[in-house]
Amino acid sequence: MLETWLTRELGITVPLVGAPMGGRAGGALAGEVTRAGGLGLSGAARYNTAEWLAEQASTAREIGGGPLGFGLMTWSLSADDSLLGAVLEHRPQVVSLSFGDPAPYVGRVHDAGALAISQINTIEDLRVVEAAGVDAVVAQGHEAGGHTGRIGTLPLLQQVLEATSLPVLAAGGIASGRGLAAVLAAGAHGAFVGTALLASPETVGPAYARAKLLAAGSADTVYTDVFDKARHQPWPSRWGGRALTNSFTDRWHGAGADEETIAEAYTGEDPDIGVVYAGEAAGLVRAEKPAGDVIRDIAAQAEALLARFR
Ligand SMILES: Cc1cc2nc3c(=O)[nH]c(=O)nc-3n(C[C@H](O)[C@H](O)[C@H](O)COP(=O)(O)O)c2cc1C
Repeated sequence: MLETWLTRELGITVPLVGAPMGGRAGGALAGEVTRAGGLGLSGAARYNTAEWLAEQASTAREIGGGPLGFGLMTWSLSADDSLLGAVLEHRPQVVSLSFGDPAPYVGRVHDAGALAISQINTIEDLRVVEAAGVDAVVAQGHEAGGHTGRIGTLPLLQQVLEATSLPVLAAGGIASGRGLAAVLAAGAHGAFVGTALLASPETVGPAYARAKLLAAGSADTVYTDVFDKARHQPWPSRWGGRALTNSFTDRWHGAGADEETIAEAYTGEDPDIGVVYAGEAAGLVRAEKPAGDVIRDIAAQAEALLARFR
């Protein structure tokens, strides 16, 4: 067993977190990750409701039988923090507050008995979340799927590990035991995996998303804001989103068009236009596989690789 701060703190057996993925990771995916020994986080998007959260919490608990966790986008709470209150009602063990300063919310998370963790993209972010009092940080690299920063996972992870006494996890590009072994050997206490889970039948989202991911290679992603514009998502400009390339990104990424024009051209119904957020690990995901198997396989391979050094 790979024992780290994360596994000890949560009483889990695998140092892997099923990443919060708005629109793709609900209670079924989170529950399967937890049942396999990790911790699955349901990803709450801005448009999700308290009812939706309640359903995910009960599904995740029923399937997972272990700790419960949610991920929220910090910047979106400044306009309306009711989703945080709704999350805390379910007494989760972990709340991920990423993309923004979590200072206004960490106290509430702790009062509810949960750990607060934040994904960060720079050393400056590290200082912000340390000052906010989070319990652990996740160095999230540029190769990650979904919204992320501009520094690659390994350069960022090395800097963060040198710069903090908080427990550090890694995110971005980790989709096999080799990736997990690498970040654990570097000093991380675990990893967030997102893209690795996106071909699993427990994901939610459009029917074409899993097939598109399976067909994609690692060079078939782009870091772009066109899907935020297309869907009127007011993300702060410092975070782009990594998605699979398609005819929509070929036409609009970097074209300099205004938001209205881009939004008019967009429809999520068309598989060649709709967004499929995914990271550079896409090329490592070759078959539709239950989420529990993904987690168990990554953990077993990492354990075997690291055993060579005992
Ligand atoms: C489809 C998708 C949606 C995501 N949505 C969120 C989100 O709502 N909140 C969040 O904190 N991170 C989100 N992320 C980022 C993940 O939490 C995580 O950092 C990333 O998946 C790790 O990199 P990987 O995809 O290479 O494993 C998302 C990622 C993907 C692929």
